[in-house]
Amino acid sequence: MSTPPSVPASLSVLADIEAFLDSQRAAFEDDLCALLSIPSVSADSAYRAEVRRAAGWMMDEFGRLGLSPRLIETSGHPIVYAETPPVPGAPIVLVYGHYDVQPPDPLDQWISPPFTPTKRDGNVYARGATDDKGQMLTHVKSAQAWLATRRQLPVQLKFVIEGEEEVGSKGLQSYLASEAAEHLACDVVVVSDTSQFGPNQPAITYGLRGIAYFELHVKGPRQDLHSGTFGGGVTNPVISLAKLLASLVDEQGRIQVPGFYDDVRPLSDLERSKLAELPFDEAKFMKQLGVTGLSGEQGYSTLERRWARPTYDIHGIWGGYQGEGGKTILPARAAAKFSFRLVPDQDPAKIAQALRGFLEARKPTGVELELTYMSGASGIVVPLESPYVQAAAAAIEQGFGRTPYYIREGGSIPIVMQFSQRLNADALLLGWGLDDDNTHSPNEKFHLADYHRGIRASTWLWHELGKLKK
Ligand code: BES
Ligand code: MN
Ligand code: MN
Repeated sequence: MSTPPSVPASLSVLADIEAFLDSQRAAFEDDLCALLSIPSVSADSAYRAEVRRAAGWMMDEFGRLGLSPRLIETSGHPIVYAETPPVPGAPIVLVYGHYDVQPPDPLDQWISPPFTPTKRDGNVYARGATDDKGQMLTHVKSAQAWLATRRQLPVQLKFVIEGEEEVGSKGLQSYLASEAAEHLACDVVVVSDTSQFGPNQPAITYGLRGIAYFELHVKGPRQDLHSGTFGGGVTNPVISLAKLLASLVDEQGRIQVPGFYDDVRPLSDLERSKLAELPFDEAKFMKQLGVTGLSGEQGYSTLERRWARPTYDIHGIWGGYQGEGGKTILPARAAAKFSFRLVPDQDPAKIAQALRGFLEARKPTGVELELTYMSGASGIVVPLESPYVQAAAAAIEQGFGRTPYYIREGGSIPIVMQFSQRLNADALLLGWGLDDDNTHSPNEKFHLADYHRGIRASTWLWHELGKLKK
């Protein structure tokens, strides 16, 4: 991999802006910490007011940049919208990010509290540090730098910062489908909500998986029963649930729902060979995760399974006695949350239909099933042959001193597909995070060097995109 010779800042065409970035490092970190201290957990209604407070912080932040932001109400949490002045002849860039975060539990596993941002070994630790407050803020800070030093940007930016990404982006999806969304017209979408290939290995992500998320309840007798008196005659809901969940995948890692693979877009030989060329170290990967082996769909490499093949995971499962000691009951109820990650051309609604049929056909005698389809999103692959991708690669080289890798990732950003369909604009997925940032887990972090490199790359991105005339 080539490392371009580092250009002295004074010779750079953005020398004044880069000097501003250097002078603001501490202030930029303080601002990130201020946002991280707001517990904007979108999934839990107990945090409703805090989610709104985070939206308010974003409103104030755009106000500090001299912009006139708008709070867009939805059926759930609000969207924060802000735009910089139009630049005739230059592309319009929609910058998408989210200010909501995942729940912080399990709390006892955090070294420092999730909403008390704490700097340790070059990282800031807090829920939302990398997903997505830190990454999202890099684009706000680069805009700030341009406005502070040059009073205008080379492109028009339209910021759409939502508060429901972690729960499926329902509000933004319906807003985008409405006429009110006309002001979002743009040429390209920029999203920093993914990861680098590895430390100091920045990447452009050209594919994301979709998802179909479910909750399944199994209902047995009216109330818990003595398992000695009733066991053997009455169907056990926990056993029923365990069997149903296990029957969804076979020993070869193939999902058993009829028709599940019908629409799966296969990997081309060319793409498979490119993925195989990535310097992925499986032993290191296992060590990092603390596991002694890996598993998945037979016939595919670990990267292919994680990024480009559909999968099934159970996220939570409950039922029966969980307290100290033994309790001999036949539980009345059992339930689980699970999802399928999907790849391009699979339709989440179609998968939900097929799953319903699969479960009903296998329903054990004596229990009732209640399946809720919680949310769905399609997978996406974006074309790499575009001047926007080249501009992003040049900006990343400036920010990180490295040419980017081209990767896919296994996570989902539900709204990205909608942007491409409704606004006819492809996304540049420029992730500054790391796979070991503990997203959705205890001790989430963001490497502060990557925060600053991300701001620098973003600063250059507006410059590079500004060269592309429409
Ligand atoms: N930033 C992630 C998506 C992501 C994770 C992309 C890792 C690439 C690599 C996003 O915030 C997220 O967690 N999305 C959810 C969506 C779901 C709740 C509908 C996901 O992927 O689980
Ligand atoms: Mn995210
Ligand atoms: Mn997330």
